[in-house]
Amino acid sequence: MDTKIIKLEIENLAEGCFHEAAEVLRNGGLVAFPTETVYGLGANGLDETAAAKIYQAKGRPSDNPLIIHIAKTQDMESLAQEIPREAYQLAEVFWPGPLTMILRKNEFVPYQTTGGLDTVAIRLPANQIARGLIEAAGVFVAAPSANLSGKPSPTLAQHVICDLDGKVDMIIDGGHATLGLESTIVDLSGGEPMILRPGCITKAMLENVIGKIEYDPVVLQGAPSLELAPKAPGMKYRHYAPEGKLTIYEGDIQKVVDAINQKAKEKLDNKNRVGVIATDETEALYRYGTVKTIGSRKDEASIAAGLYAVLREFDELHAEYIYTESFADNSLGQAIMNRLLKAAGYRVVKL
Ligand code: TXA
Ligand code: MG
Repeated sequence: MDTKIIKLEIENLAEGCFHEAAEVLRNGGLVAFPTETVYGLGANGLDETAAAKIYQAKGRPSDNPLIIHIAKTQDMESLAQEIPREAYQLAEVFWPGPLTMILRKNEFVPYQTTGGLDTVAIRLPANQIARGLIEAAGVFVAAPSANLSGKPSPTLAQHVICDLDGKVDMIIDGGHATLGLESTIVDLSGGEPMILRPGCITKAMLENVIGKIEYDPVVLQGAPSLELAPKAPGMKYRHYAPEGKLTIYEGDIQKVVDAINQKAKEKLDNKNRVGVIATDETEALYRYGTVKTIGSRKDEASIAAGLYAVLREFDELHAEYIYTESFADNSLGQAIMNRLLKAAGYRVVKL
């Protein structure tokens, strides 16, 4: 199919600019669009056939449920039932924004969208193109990240084009997805609230609003095991994987730099293509392979925002071995390390 690419500027959205994309969604088609976390691949979430097209285009396993995006908080009442007080409290503080809540679904939400579950994931995005599109379409928009299954999530339209050109009806280029990591997922569908996926809304931020909340044990455990299945089905798949073999080096930063330099040299001598993921603070210290910085250690948000783009750049260079520093495992660092560990297949060298 021919994929139409439309460019929109958040600061400069003209009246009627969503008209065509909205029509595609209403007619059961697929539109990729920017959100503040990553680009999403949208379809009418209440239309089984439309939702099925998402799985097809991404090559996504059909038991991996989709997040439904809404345009106003009240819309969650059209999708969910038995909504607990905490959902309203969190919505009040963090919506629009990078928070997804799992609630008990009502009868209007098809199992096609929820991967067969009786719960539904709901998010009200902050990005004005995302919200404008959902409003204009007048449908609830199911949207996973707009990457091919197993690829890093897209933070630029170029990434989406690379993965999905010819497979979707339309791609809206709205510039950078500014946060760069997928939303925090909180399960409020019964029992104690639980964090199923760490993101930019941290545990501490959630606890400020609703009190104590735990991580799904799988999130903290590191490498997946057979005994412990994640509550968010998507967390079990190999994800965010670059083509090359990524290894994380952890420990005293000088030792990390030395070890990476040594390893990179060894692989280069073997005629392998080598990539090194550095930070602004350490970039100048690496001497072998292609060195790219993902951001500054003084600004964790810049590291979150740069992570996926760097992984994709190393794919373009067909790097066979990629070495990276590790990051603090608290607040936003928790989300960064969660993604980095998956991308590395949990390969960590501790120094
Ligand atoms: O920031 C985001 O959340 C982005 C943008 C586009 O909104 N979307 C996104 O979607 O990351 P996706 O499909 O790549 O990740 C959704 C995750 C998956 O791990 C999925 O298993 C989980 O949410 N999920 C969806 N519905 C669920 C449910 N009912 N119960 C548990 N987990 C669910
Ligand atoms: Mg995804």
